[in-house]
Amino acid sequence: MILVTGGAGYIGSHYVLYERLRGNEVLVLDDLSLGHRDAVLDAPLVIADLSDAAVLDAVFRSYPIDAVVHFAALASVPESVTHPDRYYRHNVAHTVTLLEAMLRHDVRFFVFSSSCATYGDPVYTPMDEVHPQNPINPYGESKRVCERMMEAFDSAYGLRYVSLRYFNAAGADPDSRIGESHSPESHLIPIILQAAAGVRPSVSVYGSDYPTPDGTCIRDYIHVLDLAQAHGLALDRIRNGGASAVFNLGSGTGHSVREVIDVCRKVTGRTITVHEADRRPGDPPVLVASAAKARDELGWRPAYTNIEDIVTSAWRWQQNRRY
Ligand SMILES: NC(=O)c1ccc[n+]([C@@H]2O[C@H](COP(=O)([O-])OP(=O)(O)OC[C@H]3O[C@@H](n4cnc5c(N)ncnc54)[C@H](O)[C@@H]3O)[C@@H](O)[C@H]2O)c1
Repeated sequence: MILVTGGAGYIGSHYVLYERLRGNEVLVLDDLSLGHRDAVLDAPLVIADLSDAAVLDAVFRSYPIDAVVHFAALASVPESVTHPDRYYRHNVAHTVTLLEAMLRHDVRFFVFSSSCATYGDPVYTPMDEVHPQNPINPYGESKRVCERMMEAFDSAYGLRYVSLRYFNAAGADPDSRIGESHSPESHLIPIILQAAAGVRPSVSVYGSDYPTPDGTCIRDYIHVLDLAQAHGLALDRIRNGGASAVFNLGSGTGHSVREVIDVCRKVTGRTITVHEADRRPGDPPVLVASAAKARDELGWRPAYTNIEDIVTSAWRWQQNRRY
């Protein structure tokens, strides 16, 4: 059985659905601080804070858990700059608590949600896994510290881990059972689609003077179910005796903010009002992944290879969302 922390959140809930559809047993642990009860569907759920070691002990004693997939974290870059204490506590200290509980109960398979934010400003693109890691905010630093910690726990205690560095997660379950719902929403595609749906008046484009073809930032969008598939493959790898490893998860293709807005106009057929705003500090012009290693070593085959399909699934969710 797989323990999924943060399984009521956006990416975690899609992973839970993915594992259950392939017949695997999961247990979700989430405090619902940012997630949604409805996102878990009918998977078993323990509502608890990750920092509670006694609850973790009870969970590991009560269920036949052999692996943990750890999504629970705080993930707002601007908030991490104004409240770094929260990021070191939630993302680093709580991960220590979780790993210690795993070791107490002899659970040694661990898949971790890392981020392209661990790289900082790109030295070259597309970025592969050996690109230098110089995070430029406490969020990225908190994920980098966890990666170092996992390496040390592997050497010292035989923890087998896979750290997955996601680029920009996007899209939703094509049947709209679950989807993306952050509060406040900070991700580009749902913000644009909320503007298309009339839920917000306009979309702000932060900076149109970047050294990119249309002046707006370029990012790499990857469908949330393709991320889910990669977690499944990562877990299979270590459960089958494979070594600990790190993989980028991205599409390998960059899209500018203006391009994404145009795709959203085409998919929705709606008018989308754009408001040009100043650049935000800490936004690199281009972030694009090389995900060749995940394809070669995990056999990862993303199913959503174009941005229109990703936006179409997100738009369907926006029109049918329950939370
Ligand atoms: N969304 C992205 O594009 C993206 C990109 C790179 C990395 N990530 C990472 O992926 C993971 C999931 O991101 P998401 O977008 O699904 O976030 P999310 O906020 O939707 O989900 C996080 C979940 O963790 C739960 N949680 C938070 N703190 C907890 C605690 N102390 N105890 C128990 N539960 C707790 C929340 O209630 C929520 O359900 C995070 O680790 C994030 O850093 C996300």
